[in-house]
Amino acid sequence: EKGSSGTFILLIRWILCLLRLCSVQVIPSKVQSTKEGKNATFLCHLISKHDVLQVTWQKENGKKENNIATYSKINGHKILDNYAGHINFTQRELKVSAITFHAVTMQDEGCYKCIFNTFPMGSVFGRMCLKVYGKTSSVFRGLF
Ligand SMILES: *[C@@H]1O[C@H](CO)[C@@H](O)[C@H](O)[C@H]1NC(C)=O
Ligand SMILES: *[C@@H]1O[C@H](CO)[C@@H](O)[C@H](O)[C@H]1NC(C)=O
Repeated sequence: EKGSSGTFILLIRWILCLLRLCSVQVIPSKVQSTKEGKNATFLCHLISKHDVLQVTWQKENGKKENNIATYSKINGHKILDNYAGHINFTQRELKVSAITFHAVTMQDEGCYKCIFNTFPMGSVFGRMCLKVYGKTSSVFRGLF
């Protein structure tokens, strides 16, 4: 029966995750704080023996997620239009993927995901957040 085999696959995935066979290491692991205008890099490393079909980077936007970049062997590295010229891949492997924001702006603040589509485990992701502080904030810090 279809339903029970789906449940079985989910159970297997869950067990593999518990065994840490599907974890994504995120660097930096905590929230990254960057001054407006500086570059910021996020790196994701998939700890898994499974094949990666595609890496997708997304920005969380309320309850939705917007794709910002993808990498697959077939289609290569793609930066979505809104981010072209602003974000680049700085690690370009399937299991080690990093993106760099060039000259962060206040609009870059938020949380991001790197999603590895693996075979046969399905997708595994890491999550990270960027905090951007303005150019003037150090002035205020000096005053108080
Ligand atoms: C991104 O990388 C491409 C190719 O390596 C390069 O031509 C381009 O100048 C880079 N963009 C930025 C904003 O660094
Ligand atoms: C930030 O990125 C730009 C564009 O790629 C590069 O020219 C510059 O050297 C980088 N700055 C730092 C501090 O890495």
